[in-house]
Amino acid sequence: MPGRRAAGLGAPGAGRQSEPGPAAGGILEAVSIVATQRFPGPAMDELPEVALLERWPPPAPLPGAEVLLEAGVPVGPAELDLLPDLRLVANYGVGYDSVDVAACRARGIEVVHTPGVLDAAVADLTLALILAVRRLLVAGDRLVRQGGWSTGWSRPPQLGRDLAGSRLGLVGYGRIGSEVARRAAVFGMEVAFHRRSGGLPLDELLRSSDVVSLHVPLSAETRGLLSRERLALLPDGATLVNTARGAVVDEQALVDELVSGRISAGLDVFAHEPQVPARLLGLPNVVLTPHLGSATVETRAAMTRVLVDNVLAFLRGEPLPNPVGA
Ligand code: DGY
Repeated sequence: MPGRRAAGLGAPGAGRQSEPGPAAGGILEAVSIVATQRFPGPAMDELPEVALLERWPPPAPLPGAEVLLEAGVPVGPAELDLLPDLRLVANYGVGYDSVDVAACRARGIEVVHTPGVLDAAVADLTLALILAVRRLLVAGDRLVRQGGWSTGWSRPPQLGRDLAGSRLGLVGYGRIGSEVARRAAVFGMEVAFHRRSGGLPLDELLRSSDVVSLHVPLSAETRGLLSRERLALLPDGATLVNTARGAVVDEQALVDELVSGRISAGLDVFAHEPQVPARLLGLPNVVLTPHLGSATVETRAAMTRVLVDNVLAFLRGEPLPNPVGA
């Protein structure tokens, strides 16, 4: 589609962030690439022209679009019908639950994602949420700003909990989970985990942890994994941290538990982002962040690098570095 305007597309060249890099030109220029947003970092300049879509899904079919760069938008049969010539979906992020991979495969469309480069950033945010909740960081900040600090240091309104000596239960122990474990150990936490192929049984892990942190992808198997019944297994005063996907937890049941004040939580992800259940907004026992897991300058640029490397490999007919499920 270079040089041609199509329904739902921005002006030709809207996606180009600077002059083409060395990889652009020749046969690569002939492939049309569309994107649902701009992606940060210099690697984008290595792609041939990228047309930015003004809306997703596009309001009219986009014949000719062969590569789609997207981040967290639904890509299922209805959307694929609008891109009849699509050959590659490049998903910005390690989680690709918004992409119907089976529907893509059925149409011969390949799907790639960006694993590996965001593990440290997500693990850092997980520890930040654990600290924020357990040491009352946000509650303390709010107290000071609202002029509510009226006693000396020795009589705070509430005491936090030590990380050292407390037990962290990791649900999922892949790349991100193990990065969290390394950091937690430095803070003196005792770490246990549950995963499909080992560790503690999930219910036992939940029953015996002071802090539970989720590090599983969202799939048919993990949707609602932390059901109402399982949330009830958490000990009184426990903290749930979720930097994975909101729908791994029964969100309604979690809100009920948090409203009751029995447990606390640090939540970076929600079942229907960007919507956050209204009942959470006034709660002192919850720290809320807007899906910031990978949101650093360095990590987001690294994710773009991975995305671009996959697209360039595709355009050159080389093996894809990061096909989903690999
Ligand atoms: C991902 O990559 O799936 C993350 O959720 C983005 O932070």
